[in-house]
Amino acid sequence: MNKPDKQGQRARFNTKIGVIATTVGSAVGLGNIWRFPYEAGSNGGGAFMLCYIMFIFIIGVPVICAEFIMGRGTRSNILGAYRKLSRGKWYIAGFMGIAASVAILSFYSVVAGWICEYFVQSVRGELMLASSSEYHEAFDQFSTGNWRPVVWTLIFLSLNFLILVRGVTKGIERMSNILMPLLFILLMIFCVNSLTLSGASEGLAFLFNPDFSKITPRVLLSAMGQAFFSLSLGLGCMTTYASYFGNKTRLGRTAITTASLDTLVAVLAGVIIFPAVFSFGISPQAGPTLVFEVLPAIFNSLPGGVVWSSLFFFLLILASLTSTISMSEISIAFMTEELKMKRRTATIVNTLIAMALGSLCALSFGALSGFTIFGMTIFNFFDYLASNILLPIGGMIASVFVGWVVDRRFIRNQLTANGSIKFRAYSLILFCLRYVAPAGIALVFLNSIGIIS
Ligand code: PHE
Repeated sequence: MNKPDKQGQRARFNTKIGVIATTVGSAVGLGNIWRFPYEAGSNGGGAFMLCYIMFIFIIGVPVICAEFIMGRGTRSNILGAYRKLSRGKWYIAGFMGIAASVAILSFYSVVAGWICEYFVQSVRGELMLASSSEYHEAFDQFSTGNWRPVVWTLIFLSLNFLILVRGVTKGIERMSNILMPLLFILLMIFCVNSLTLSGASEGLAFLFNPDFSKITPRVLLSAMGQAFFSLSLGLGCMTTYASYFGNKTRLGRTAITTASLDTLVAVLAGVIIFPAVFSFGISPQAGPTLVFEVLPAIFNSLPGGVVWSSLFFFLLILASLTSTISMSEISIAFMTEELKMKRRTATIVNTLIAMALGSLCALSFGALSGFTIFGMTIFNFFDYLASNILLPIGGMIASVFVGWVVDRRFIRNQLTANGSIKFRAYSLILFCLRYVAPAGIALVFLNSIGIIS
């Protein structure tokens, strides 16, 4: 992707639809279909959903705009973007984003590896078990067994490597253009099916009926972390992708479209999962394993289940790849542009680090399950650290930076594509970046460590 094009400039995404598809391709992934349902399930359902949606639109959308402005305006990786826009030490935030991207890539690849295993099992017809407790046991046995999850993690990262090393503008654009609509259609079909299940009304009430007494500091922090994770926000991913946007791309509109589609997919996943959770008597609080127990049970109840599940897991592997490509691109763009490495070398370094850390994450369900950091397994620690802490801090820094440090004319030029389009929400976005987003994020942090209640 950042291979130079024929004129020797950085490459660009080619079409309007390509911009949306790649950005949404980064945002939509396991965060929506695996992480959202289990976080919602463990954090009070409706209460979590309400906070999550609030964070997406009040904090998420302005911060996406900030990252877009930094990326397209400087045409740089995250570190370079901070450096080009200010002489201060702001670029240190870039290192934090890069660290977060590597941590996420590591545990994300483990889950993507589980999806690969489930895809193979689906195709072989091995995923048709009799009861939900059998699904629970089967997943437990697989994830705690040591070598298979590690091997799948390594295979997945190798696939990611192969796509990345080719320089991917065309590849990702084409893949996302076809894949995303197809995945969406499949989700709609599963949604309709779930609504006919016996637990449908209970499931929907769980997800959409907020019990305000359940909005605790923990729920707020988790919902904020999920919003950042799901939007690929706070670590420089949107900055890096925006550096490949064309000059005419409408940043505000792209931000709103990305946030809306991403949220829609998460809500669809919730509508698919929770009716089934209540129909099949599974605990919504099962944690990271939730969808691996519920989804196969759903497919099993459908006519032609093998075909549905194989197709679904296949698409989910591709959706995961479009996300891991985007998180890898953060450090690859940094290494090629700042450290002047060759793209191939940078990709190898990124992959090897993720392979080492990813194996540890995979083993943290088995051999390393007794090894904990702050009471969390390595997998959970990486997830918690990146999603609930690093990404919101990264987002806060980006919004303060664009809101207070970056020149206003620069911001306006970016949002209006150099004056060629009207951008009515300019003052609103600036207000959110200066006050709402930083204060909101700070309040959630202070609240979660008990300083304010
Ligand atoms: N947003 C992606 C998802 O929901 C995950 C991601 C996080 C991608 C951070 C890039 C950067 O699956």
